[in-house]
Amino acid sequence: MGKRTQENVYNKSRGRKMDDNRVQERASTGIARLDEMMDGGPFRGSVTLVLGPPGTGKTCLGLEFISRGAIDYGEPGLIITFEHFPKKLLRDALSLGFDLQDLESKGLVRILFTSPEIFFEQAQVSGGLLDTMVQELGAKRVLVDSISHLERLARDPVKLREIAFTFTNALLRHGLTAFVTQEDPGITGDMAAAQYGISYLVDAVIVLRYVELDSSITRAVMVLKQRASSHDKTIREFWITDEGIRIGEPFKDREGVLSGLPRKKEIDAFMEVFGPRGKSGGKGEGR
Ligand SMILES: Nc1ncnc2c1ncn2[C@@H]1O[C@H](COP(=O)(O)OP(=O)(O)OP(=O)(O)O)[C@@H](O)[C@H]1O
Ligand SMILES: [Mg+2]
Repeated sequence: MGKRTQENVYNKSRGRKMDDNRVQERASTGIARLDEMMDGGPFRGSVTLVLGPPGTGKTCLGLEFISRGAIDYGEPGLIITFEHFPKKLLRDALSLGFDLQDLESKGLVRILFTSPEIFFEQAQVSGGLLDTMVQELGAKRVLVDSISHLERLARDPVKLREIAFTFTNALLRHGLTAFVTQEDPGITGDMAAAQYGISYLVDAVIVLRYVELDSSITRAVMVLKQRASSHDKTIREFWITDEGIRIGEPFKDREGVLSGLPRKKEIDAFMEVFGPRGKSGGKGEGR
């Protein structure tokens, strides 16, 4: 694993005007390459949205963010889940190499399994469930999995935006570094067609995708946006392993990766069919 970036301090004003030259500190996602992709990691006290179709690894990424925060940095993390029983989360985390139960017993992790209705109501109340749990745990990180469930609180898009705004502010009120997941219905698909829900409210957006490559399915990750940062613009392959998430190199010589069906760049397709210029038998030889 590469150099940890957690205590690195940045003062980059690119893209956002910083009042009184405020120095903003970065947290570490716990995944060195993701930190690099995020220009050093997510800002402390910011919200990062993890967007992707079912099964792409949103929960895994969030669990690693919380687990590594606790193990590597001693930062207590709260997991708020609307969909998985704590037992399932414990099992999922274990398959990635993280013993959440042990972290829970050490007071470094707490899992809250609740309904969006209760959570949303409590998040607005001073001294409510969110306040109490954050204070009791001394939480520095939070994972909310997934905010897609908030959609059932209202149908009206304006009302939904208000809910998203209130919800984001509730997380920010505590200065928590937050990861929130959201389901993106397209299995593969065009970025332009995707709906980003609360993406306009958050500081960073990480997109996960399935990609069909040479007749097999792999996963892709990219940082779609990150405020005040020169984030990585490449799309990289990643793997879910029993030691957590591993991120590889950018997809090379491919176009249309986000469409889910990348094509080899024309020049490579040409090379594959006709061989490199100048090789024996190459048609262009000597010309
Ligand atoms: N240790 C592991 N090794 C390999 N793959 C794993 C491992 N643990 C989990 N996975 C894979 O991760 C996938 C599930 O990822 P995850 O639950 O994070 O997806 P998700 O995006 O949260 O899905 P959903 O939208 O359904 O909640 C499964 O397909 C599973 O195959
Ligand atoms: Mg999930």
